[in-house]
Amino acid sequence: MVGTPADSAEKIIIFDTTLRDGEQVPGSQLNTLEKIEVARALEALGVDVIEAGFPISSPGDFKSVVEISKVVDRPVISALTRAIEKDIDVAAEALKYAKKGRIHTGIGTSPYHIYSKFNSTPEQILERAVQMVKYAKKYVDDVEFFAEDAGRSDNEFLARVVEAVIAAGATVINIPDTTGYCTPYEYGAKIKYLKDNVANVDKAVLSAHCHNDLGMATANALAGIMNGIRQVECTINGIGERAGNTSLEEVVMILKCRKDIPAYTDIDTTKIIKTSRLVSNLMRMPVQPNKAIVGRNAFAHSSGIHQDGVLKNRENYEIIDPADIGVSDSSIVLTARSGRAALDHHLRRLGYELSHAELDVAYSKFLVLADAQKSVSDEDLRNLAGTGTVEDAR
Ligand code: KIV
Ligand code: ZN
Repeated sequence: MVGTPADSAEKIIIFDTTLRDGEQVPGSQLNTLEKIEVARALEALGVDVIEAGFPISSPGDFKSVVEISKVVDRPVISALTRAIEKDIDVAAEALKYAKKGRIHTGIGTSPYHIYSKFNSTPEQILERAVQMVKYAKKYVDDVEFFAEDAGRSDNEFLARVVEAVIAAGATVINIPDTTGYCTPYEYGAKIKYLKDNVANVDKAVLSAHCHNDLGMATANALAGIMNGIRQVECTINGIGERAGNTSLEEVVMILKCRKDIPAYTDIDTTKIIKTSRLVSNLMRMPVQPNKAIVGRNAFAHSSGIHQDGVLKNRENYEIIDPADIGVSDSSIVLTARSGRAALDHHLRRLGYELSHAELDVAYSKFLVLADAQKSVSDEDLRNLAGTGTVEDAR
């Protein structure tokens, strides 16, 4: 199961953008106090960077970046900008109380962005990218550059841009798959291409920012890690534009579970479920029941074969100890698919020890009840354990 990282493992910087990309979800806007609450929870969770907002986008976003900068101590606070001087001025102002501030600026590098969004040329885009990184460097040492739609950008041009912005002083280079179009193979190959073809690439940290339009955001971030990514941009519960972003809890738990991947994070995983629920409640965004790691069914076993297996040895059907993410225990859900072992488990939990023959009788009654109603309550079980009939149990 879960182990400790190998000595040679690389630390993956966790850049949480729940409060920026995540908060772009329609109907899920947070006020400043709620954002502060989430930022504090992210700090406690152990994220390395908090993207607190896009200060020029609204007075509320500006204020939130200011207030989060005041209360958060350890993580770097990042503020997003377009490649526009005014945006950068406003972001620098919003970051003035940050103990460690980062300006995250950038521009689109794909043919879509160059020609149909900016009505521009590759040379003009490259020049603007360099100018804006230099401009941001006047305010902060820590400048992250994003090449928007890098996923659909030509690798050769992308490499030229990345090389130029590193020379201009960018310390982190974000390679977003903005539209969630890349396959993991393609995204991994893109990162490898940059590692192999950009001069001084190791002077900057390469960052993965993947969207989930085709359900590949986490797989793409992982493919990036395998090829030299050292920062992953992600959100709690995978929330974000359209189908969302790489989910923090998925990346973190993959790296915790799979010791064959030589990478680790500093996240306190036992705080994952608490943070997931906080974000879900404040943003009014229920987590889908089968969501990996944090869905309510992620540790629920309902079929008889699985329940029997888990009761014999949890690891027969669980690759994560629920306690590792802060869930007290996995659950054995009683349904008409459950077997005797699950029924016996629950009866014992309630203090009933039935003989083999008694259990057989109780089990027959239980099946009738489970077929008739969606869930079987503890009260139902108490009735079953007594001498009552199936009718009594109803
Ligand atoms: O998806 C994206 O490209 C972004 C950038 C603004 C970083 O969110
Ligand atoms: Zn994004």
